[in-house]
Amino acid sequence: MLKIEGLKKRFGNFQALSGLDMEIEEGALYGFVGPNGAGKTTAIRIITGLLKPDEGTVEIAGIDALREPRRVRDEFGYVPDEFGMYDNLKVREYMEFFASAYGLDGLVARNRCEELLAQMKLEEWADAFVDSLSRGMKQRLCLARALIHDPKLLVLDEPTSGMDPRTRLEFKEMLKELCAEGKTILVSSHILSELAQMCTDIGVIDAGRIILSGSMSEILQKVNESNPLLIRVAGGKREQALNVLKSDERVRTVVIRGGEIAVRFGGTERDEADLLRKLVGAGVAVSGFFREQGDLESIFMQITNHDTEKVVLRSEE
Ligand SMILES: Nc1ncnc2c1ncn2[C@@H]1O[C@H](COP(=O)(O)OP(=O)(O)OP(=O)(O)O)[C@@H](O)[C@H]1O
Ligand SMILES: [Mg+2]
Repeated sequence: MLKIEGLKKRFGNFQALSGLDMEIEEGALYGFVGPNGAGKTTAIRIITGLLKPDEGTVEIAGIDALREPRRVRDEFGYVPDEFGMYDNLKVREYMEFFASAYGLDGLVARNRCEELLAQMKLEEWADAFVDSLSRGMKQRLCLARALIHDPKLLVLDEPTSGMDPRTRLEFKEMLKELCAEGKTILVSSHILSELAQMCTDIGVIDAGRIILSGSMSEILQKVNESNPLLIRVAGGKREQALNVLKSDERVRTVVIRGGEIAVRFGGTERDEADLLRKLVGAGVAVSGFFREQGDLESIFMQITNHDTEKVVLRSEE
């Protein structure tokens, strides 16, 4: 649905995007995550045609977005990171204004606006002034506006920032529903755990390029692999355990930590079960065997700390 290749953008001496590649499959809920200043908004502004890249290509629904900006406009809806000011405009008027901008008018426009306001739970606010809405409601209105022409792709730039936890959760549920209805969604955030609960795919951007991407389950697997296996051995068989561990090629490092052996182990759950079987088979009395649970946020801190290697392959001294 969206394919970006080799996107570069420079502001003066500052390279904001340095060869960004990204691919989003139809029907995906893609989380675009990176720290402040990583280049998320710059990339999104290029995707939505508000900014020209120095190099690279953008394809949306098979259309070359840089060559055919007018044609591609019908294919996506955009929720920017900042809500513009609309003094003296009521919610319904605001929606009808955008409907007409997309060439809808009369009864068709009216029905579409009412339908979207109802879907976004804003029907009771149709006659309220836009500026009187809470932040959460404004974001839902922005989403309603972005959906006016029923686009295939939705692009949202940090839509949940500044929302309270409940509003945040409701907004995420709404995105999931839209995805279930067949929309492809690109949503940015600087909080990885925020996206982890709803996204099917993740791309991590840092300093203008993607440093980690894949399906949510692949990412979780990688995160999981970066956490050590903690093994407890009863009955003084530690030496035997160490011999088994050292001879296993999936074991990267072994560190004795108090009463436990901490093992960096690059394998799936099935490999873990296999390792446990080998230990028991060698006569080691294993009394504890589990993965330490690292939280997503600390992993994110590590990978965006220009230390990608460290996450997957840490050798402790
Ligand atoms: N118009 C501009 N002129 C100069 N520098 C810019 C401009 N727009 C963005 N930048 C710089 O490019 C870098 C990337 O900015 P961008 O807004 O894309 O980051 P971001 O990932 O969206 O960050 P945030 O999480 O803070 O929204 C920043 O260092 C920013 O200062
Ligand atoms: Mg931004």
